[in-house]
Amino acid sequence: MNHPYPPPLMTSESFARYTVVHRLPSIVTDVIAENDYPPAIVSTLEVLRDELGEHSIAPLTQDAPDAAAWNRAREPYCDHSWLEIPWYFAESYFYRRLLEAICYFRPGDFQGRDPFEHRKKGALKGEAARKLLKMVLAGEAADEKERFARLLHASLWGNRADLSNIILAAGPEEGLDCASGDDLLLDHSPAAWPLIAPGRLRRVDFLCDNAGLEALLDLVLIDFLLDSGLCQQIVFHLKDRPFFVSDTMIQDIAPMLAALRQIGGPAADLASRLEAHRRGGRWILKSDPFWTSWLCFAEMPAHLYDELAQSDLIILKGDLNYRRLLGDRRWPPTMPLEEAANYFPLPFMTLRTLKSEIIVGLREGEAEKLTATDPDWLVNGRRGLIHLVRRET
Ligand code: F6P
Ligand code: MG
Repeated sequence: MNHPYPPPLMTSESFARYTVVHRLPSIVTDVIAENDYPPAIVSTLEVLRDELGEHSIAPLTQDAPDAAAWNRAREPYCDHSWLEIPWYFAESYFYRRLLEAICYFRPGDFQGRDPFEHRKKGALKGEAARKLLKMVLAGEAADEKERFARLLHASLWGNRADLSNIILAAGPEEGLDCASGDDLLLDHSPAAWPLIAPGRLRRVDFLCDNAGLEALLDLVLIDFLLDSGLCQQIVFHLKDRPFFVSDTMIQDIAPMLAALRQIGGPAADLASRLEAHRRGGRWILKSDPFWTSWLCFAEMPAHLYDELAQSDLIILKGDLNYRRLLGDRRWPPTMPLEEAANYFPLPFMTLRTLKSEIIVGLREGEAEKLTATDPDWLVNGRRGLIHLVRRET
């Protein structure tokens, strides 16, 4: 690597600061409004909300199997305020603190209760899901290569429907017209096709992102890969607990299949095929505590690395997976992805809409041009990319 390892994004600056000062407190407010918590839980949530900002980050205090490890990870920052720490640590620790506040790990009425369930289920109701599915399930007749590209694009733009991002949560369906054009900064879908073409894919690993509309579009994509025989097996890597509001857990899959059945017609057929793929061991659902930890992907435990290394293609969905792949660091925008993430098993492909100030793989001058026309291009979720890194042959 020719470039020195760049510094991490910090909560003292820019969109990360905005996240701590505005977005996280508003997530706490929504959690209070959308759940029927008793006064003791509400006041613990209010304490957490008040702490965000200039106050120092308090430790976890309730017993839980992972509490000591989180508190050790917090140690380097124990004298720091929420506005003086690496951004990814701040966000991941916030979600862990939120779970403590709602007694998620404590035996009792609230153990294991997802504070974001109401929103996740809401995203499946209404016209948006129905319209989207109608759009992507149409056009069965297209040839496989074209259909693959179309579904890959749909899965990418589905990433605009992230419920942790208040900019997009206001009207996700408007941003999901599956258009491409200038908003698609990098499109390696044609380069990905030779990897997919008949008989090549034994196993695809999918590092999943958001439940709801995004995951429905992902389900259409994986059904296509399995049903067409282009791929033998798909492994979904899901979260083991509520994380970044809408990230998908294993228990979010059943409500999504139920929503598909409820919509009926081709959507219900899709649900039946997915259930058959699952029963037949071709669609596997897994979770691991690493995915909800404070660690970036360069610190992935050996058992997960070895598992991903067996894959014929790893698909990383969403902005946060992209951030963790790149260590949540300020790389120069022209840095090649294969250099910045040179430790990651190959081949891999990231599908991400831009919601944080981190990007690599652009041409010289491209970032500057984008900043001149749209100063918020890195965070407003309008742009997207499909970036493939192949094995050397
Ligand atoms: O970067 C903005 C943000 O909302 C973060 O808080 C988080 O990194 C990410 O986007 C979540 O997006 P996604 O669901 O695409 O990972
Ligand atoms: Mg997410």
